[in-house]
Amino acid sequence: MQETTDDPIAALKAILGPSGWVGAGDSAPYATDIMGPGGECLLVARPASTDEVAATVRLCARHGIAIVPQGGNSNVCRMAVPLDGQAAVILSLTRMNRILGIDPASSTATVEAGVLMQTLQEAALAGGRVFAPDWGARGTATVGGAVATNGGGLNVLRYGTTREQVLGLEVVLADGTIWNGLRSLIKDNSGYDLKHLFIGSEGTLGIITRLVFRLHPDQPVTQSMMAVLDDMARLNEFFDMARGIGGEHLVAFELMPGMGVEKALERYPDLRRPLGTRGEWYLLLRFAGLDSVEEPMMRLFEQGFEAGILSDAVLSSSVAQERNLWEIREQMIPYQYFAMPSLKWDVSVPRGRIVEFLDRAGQIVHALRPDAICYAAGHVGDGNIHYTVFVPADSPPAMNDRICTEVDGLIWQMQGSIVAEHGVGAMFAERMRRQKSDVEYAMMRQIKQSLDPDGLMNPGKLLQRN
Ligand code: MLT
Ligand code: ZN
Repeated sequence: MQETTDDPIAALKAILGPSGWVGAGDSAPYATDIMGPGGECLLVARPASTDEVAATVRLCARHGIAIVPQGGNSNVCRMAVPLDGQAAVILSLTRMNRILGIDPASSTATVEAGVLMQTLQEAALAGGRVFAPDWGARGTATVGGAVATNGGGLNVLRYGTTREQVLGLEVVLADGTIWNGLRSLIKDNSGYDLKHLFIGSEGTLGIITRLVFRLHPDQPVTQSMMAVLDDMARLNEFFDMARGIGGEHLVAFELMPGMGVEKALERYPDLRRPLGTRGEWYLLLRFAGLDSVEEPMMRLFEQGFEAGILSDAVLSSSVAQERNLWEIREQMIPYQYFAMPSLKWDVSVPRGRIVEFLDRAGQIVHALRPDAICYAAGHVGDGNIHYTVFVPADSPPAMNDRICTEVDGLIWQMQGSIVAEHGVGAMFAERMRRQKSDVEYAMMRQIKQSLDPDGLMNPGKLLQRN
């Protein structure tokens, strides 16, 4: 692949071939995300192989052109589009979408980065295995993007984060060199475990092109329970009960706000109301096993009810009913329901302190702005809650900044994180800096400097520009 022209964009087009690029004029679907249009895009490169990714990166490096790697572009923190004032090439991995092999003996899958999460889930299940990462955007998110963000989702409680599913990686480095780290070993202490630098690096250190994942044995029989949580103060007690009774059958433990459930049911008439009783808070749990999990689930409900923690519940009795419960959960997306400006956190606190966080954050917000709406939904079984504060349109920016600063401060004071599973992107880069000590941030900068000395890999994301 020889560069034949001084025009880098023409040279890129020649490298990638006619179906390997989208011109700047047609780039809007790639250069726009959930928050709207991004900055200027010179070209969308759509390489079909690692060699084409490497050639694209080499050429951009030679011409000082920034690269914004992109998977399904379903992130919610402005991670995968160029920023204003930043003429960049978007490098989409979506054509690298082959499952290269599933090895039943070692229970691994080797795939290209652009494979969709749902595609790999289905391929693994066909062989009696589970590919663990799972969240609402499963039909759009690519596995490479999931690893680059270290996304969390609905199954973390049972299987761990996306990071824990990765055994090996192939990465194109910032100068176009290919690092083949496609190993599938469970144990390998032969030096620094470099793959972990790239997992969660949001494309700022290199471009993940192929991966080896760990798969888990399928637990094909699942049942879910949606329950009204009557006594929020006893959330932890009920979680301990669920873990004690469910053991390794407990796959997911999610919290939903009553107002979110009502809004979802209004907006999506195909969803069916699962419970007669309306509550301020609901829990949604899934158990999975080789055989029926009804007995432990019933026992859990009875104990929760007798203890006065739950007041009503439904246990799914068909696949369709279970799907309906989880579709309600996946529609806990607050922006759809409130036409007001929102302040947003993706909070992690030590699992046992979720209720304390919600109480204290609510007090902070309402002391400053009594008419604000606090909205919280998420994966409380692993200490993660998606927290949104809606403020009236006339709330002054200085007030909104103050709410952000004070809630951020509370989270750090509780030894938590304002970026749990969605990523930093451009949206949280400045606030994440304040979460880190100078020592920790300097180490992050040194790593960036050593792997991307010219700062061309997804600039302005994760780390502050200066
Ligand atoms: C969720 O748990 O529903 C997702 O992380 C999506 C979100 O919070 O925006
Ligand atoms: Zn989530």
